[in-house]
Amino acid sequence: MQTFKNFSIIFLGLFLFLCSALSLANAEVQQHQFVIQATKVKRLCKTHNSITVNGMFPGPTLEVRNGDTLEVKVVNKCRYNVTIHWHGVRQIRTGWADGPEFVTQCPIRPGGSYTYRFTIQGQEGTLWWHAHSSWLRATVYGALIIHPREGESYPFPKPKRETPILLGEWWDANPIDVVREATRTGATPNISDAYTINGQLGDLYKCSSKDTTIVSIDSGETNLLRVINAALNQPLFFSVANHKFTVVGADASYTKPFTTSVLMLGPGQTTDVLITGDQPPARYYMAARAYQSAQNAPFDNTTTTAILEYKSAPCPAKKGLAPKPIMPSLPAYNDTNTVTAFSRSFKSPRKVEVPTDIDESLFFTVGLGLNNCPPNFHKSRCQGPNGTRFTASMNNVSFVFPRNFSLLQAHQQGIPGVFTTDFPRTPPVKFDYTGNVSQSLFQPIAGTKLYKLKYGSRVQIVIQDTSIVTPENHPIHLHGYDFYIIAEGFGNFNPKKDTSKFNLVDPPLRNTVAVPVNGWAVIRFIADNPGVWLMHCHLDVHITWGLAMAFIVENGVGELQTLQPPPPDLPLC
Ligand SMILES: *[C@@H]1O[C@H](CO)[C@@H](O)[C@H](O)[C@H]1NC(C)=O
Ligand SMILES: *[C@@H]1O[C@H](CO)[C@@H](O)[C@H](O)[C@H]1NC(C)=O
Ligand SMILES: *[C@@H]1O[C@H](CO)[C@@H](O)[C@H](O)[C@H]1NC(C)=O
Ligand SMILES: *[C@@H]1O[C@H](CO)[C@@H](O)[C@H](O)[C@H]1NC(C)=O
Ligand SMILES: *[C@@H]1O[C@H](CO)[C@@H](O)[C@H](O)[C@H]1NC(C)=O
Ligand SMILES: *[C@@H]1O[C@H](CO)[C@@H](O)[C@H](O)[C@H]1NC(C)=O
Ligand SMILES: *[C@@H]1O[C@H](CO)[C@@H](O)[C@H](O)[C@H]1NC(C)=O
Ligand SMILES: *[C@@H]1O[C@H](CO)[C@@H](O)[C@H](O)[C@H]1NC(C)=O
Repeated sequence: MQTFKNFSIIFLGLFLFLCSALSLANAEVQQHQFVIQATKVKRLCKTHNSITVNGMFPGPTLEVRNGDTLEVKVVNKCRYNVTIHWHGVRQIRTGWADGPEFVTQCPIRPGGSYTYRFTIQGQEGTLWWHAHSSWLRATVYGALIIHPREGESYPFPKPKRETPILLGEWWDANPIDVVREATRTGATPNISDAYTINGQLGDLYKCSSKDTTIVSIDSGETNLLRVINAALNQPLFFSVANHKFTVVGADASYTKPFTTSVLMLGPGQTTDVLITGDQPPARYYMAARAYQSAQNAPFDNTTTTAILEYKSAPCPAKKGLAPKPIMPSLPAYNDTNTVTAFSRSFKSPRKVEVPTDIDESLFFTVGLGLNNCPPNFHKSRCQGPNGTRFTASMNNVSFVFPRNFSLLQAHQQGIPGVFTTDFPRTPPVKFDYTGNVSQSLFQPIAGTKLYKLKYGSRVQIVIQDTSIVTPENHPIHLHGYDFYIIAEGFGNFNPKKDTSKFNLVDPPLRNTVAVPVNGWAVIRFIADNPGVWLMHCHLDVHITWGLAMAFIVENGVGELQTLQPPPPDLPLC
């Protein structure tokens, strides 16, 4: 008895010591191992050998605090090249850990490994991680949750529970075969067969009646849902029957709270919402389905569901007799008005310092294109419209990823011949971007063109959709940065009239902007993170076609403004 008591005292002392050590250090180093491996995953009545992390689909959720350091050893035990991107993490001076293949590293080959090391600096909220190699992110993704520092709190009442909601896209085929087939034929890739919530399809799909994510709530409590659009190619609407959301954050930045009954997230975007158990105890569907802005393009029009279940919901008298959950009404697939109202509701919580006195005023068109088929191509490889091949571009450059060096390595070591720095600051040809575009403008040039920024430059980019082939809402993601979205609109950006719409007071801070279909968005940031940073459409079919470019941000003065040296285990080509 006495011994037991002594032990308890020692344990208590140890516990108190650990607690104080933790709060003093105030930041920790978390180590994880991600094993990329094929795992059997059964969906839609069929078992696939899906590529996963640690055999989990979706992969593990990482939970850290602002200021923590992550060391994730990625071991590639699958048959494909792979890299992991920490979507939205600023990676200040640690560009080598960003992850896009052939941009900041060469792929981790089968049998290889690489440890990503980086520190979360000044970010709080919901981010995620995903493969950044071919279409592997279809199944290789997970949540990255950043809590406030020890002793700090959210700028809203502490929620009772917190649940990540990962929206995904499922193919009843190997996604790598789907993209390879499209690359061969030049046609659009096969559309997905289903969407998922936390990896589950929900009971509206065949063979899925038992595969539904259940999210619990108690009457009166307020919970936080961390919604992530991890789908490959589809912007999605998301709603919960009879409940409203209070939006409090997006892309790991807080927002001025606003209420809405529907969210729209482009792939890559995250949205944090509060939901209160203020309805009669029951079961309510949460549902996601497509927002489709492209015209005459096939899309997956199915609906995925999860269930919001009140803990006090009456139990069904007999199993199987439970009433069907209540279904929310979702906007029409092409309801751009709802999308516009939603995206215009985002503001920073208070006045922010938006860069002014712009050093680099850039104008980038984003959109699709069609390549005429080379004469030596068989017609089976020219299955785009009218015997063409699909392509996509920014400022008429269809981005080609290098294969022999990563861009960052070529930049840092001065290796010539891998890229050029002549990415145009404005479109080479001015035309009515959103009008009836002449077919003579449809074919872009191919190239690995980068744009160089001096350290600390204040950058503005007008991102303009084009109606070439079809206008479309493009989720444009910038690596290594958060940016302010100071305005968006429809038609062609008009510098005379539209500057009056700029919000230089409290614009939202994001890492991915859903550029309105047939419209434009204006973003601003300060180039204070040296490295090579990809900017691309987060619809994977578009990045496959070349809808990308990259910035080189030069080093500034002194160590704190200089890219760190490459880690010794950096995979080379
Ligand atoms: C794409 O769809 C077509 C038509 O349904 C089918 O024949 C083909 O096998 C699919 N491709 C892949 C890679 O699943
Ligand atoms: C979805 O698309 C299919 C094929 O085009 C069509 O038959 C079906 O009616 C559509 N379903 C809905 C709910 O729009
Ligand atoms: C949306 O689709 C509906 C039904 O297909 C169509 O009647 C309507 O004109 C479309 N609206 C827009 C804005 O394209
Ligand atoms: C295919 O060619 C026809 C005739 O030139 C043209 O009207 C049509 O717009 C073309 N389709 C596309 C998608 O460019
Ligand atoms: C890298 O590849 C590019 C494109 O194929 C080629 O032009 C360049 O010479 C290569 N660089 C080196 C150093 O091998
Ligand atoms: C677009 O322009 C082409 C060529 O100038 C013309 O044939 C076609 O009718 C126009 N389409 C529309 C919808 O105005
Ligand atoms: C893109 O460049 C090609 C080659 O110079 C040209 O044919 C095409 O018209 C250009 N298109 C645009 C939109 O600038
Ligand atoms: C895998 O990566 C290596 C080295 O970077 C590259 O040479 C090879 O082509 C890649 N394989 C595929 C299938 O992309």
